[in-house]
Amino acid sequence: MASELLIQALAPACGAEIFGVDLANPPADSMHRIQHAMAQHSVLFFRDQKLTPVQQLDVTRRFGTILRVPYIQHLDEYPDIIAVLKEADERNISTFGGTWHSDFSFLAEPPSFTLLYALELPSLGGDTLWASQYHAYDNLSAGMKVLLDPLRAIQTAWPHGTKGPAAGARVSRSIGMVRGDSEADREIAQPVVRVHPVTGRKALFVNPVYTQYFEGMTPEESRPLLQFLFQHATKAEFTCRLRWAPGTLAIWDNRCLLHLAINDYDGSRRLLHRTTVAGQRPVGP
Ligand code: SIN
Repeated sequence: MASELLIQALAPACGAEIFGVDLANPPADSMHRIQHAMAQHSVLFFRDQKLTPVQQLDVTRRFGTILRVPYIQHLDEYPDIIAVLKEADERNISTFGGTWHSDFSFLAEPPSFTLLYALELPSLGGDTLWASQYHAYDNLSAGMKVLLDPLRAIQTAWPHGTKGPAAGARVSRSIGMVRGDSEADREIAQPVVRVHPVTGRKALFVNPVYTQYFEGMTPEESRPLLQFLFQHATKAEFTCRLRWAPGTLAIWDNRCLLHLAINDYDGSRRLLHRTTVAGQRPVGP
């Protein structure tokens, strides 16, 4: 029998709420529909879920192979889960994911999906934004698309490492950054426009955290165009916004989205559990 799964778009560019599914015990036919909805909306929200860490890992595996991410301390008992945590007494400090980015885009094979499960939240604030990079690409001029399609850009994990502009920056202590990882300063060239392996659509693939400069150009030469792209990529009409509640699970596709955690809740505790799914090497047009 078909499940009573209901899909309601949250914004035109991306985001949909899925009703009528208990992810701890999903009906047999639901994964196919959820994956279809994911290809359409890029980020999905499930309310009122009751997931133990083991169940979150099971849900994660339904989307692919779990990726254990570098540079960030994991839960002792569950090495494939990160606690995204800012304590109430951590004021005037940057928060994890507080600048627009695509998760770990500096890896040769960046994660496809990220799952974030809300446990404890401020009564107000701490929302998350996503921006569709399909829409960002589609809304460029024909001339700009021709210019960008063959380009590659250098991405690096400087923000997590010991080199570069953010070296030593104070991030919420609860995140437990592993600094000084020898791979953190490595640079990798990724396509500026990537073709999504499932939908075949083109998506912009640069972000202000990890993208440094265009391959074959200097940082100075690259800066004006990158600045334009960073601003363009996060236009309000490409975004959706989630107001979390305990038990909300968000699953998003890093191959066609940027996201940003809003750091507006000093004085409150915010705790979510994060898992990631392995991805493929990004391919350009
Ligand atoms: C992240 O960038 O994965 C964290 C997002 C959030 O805390 O809302």
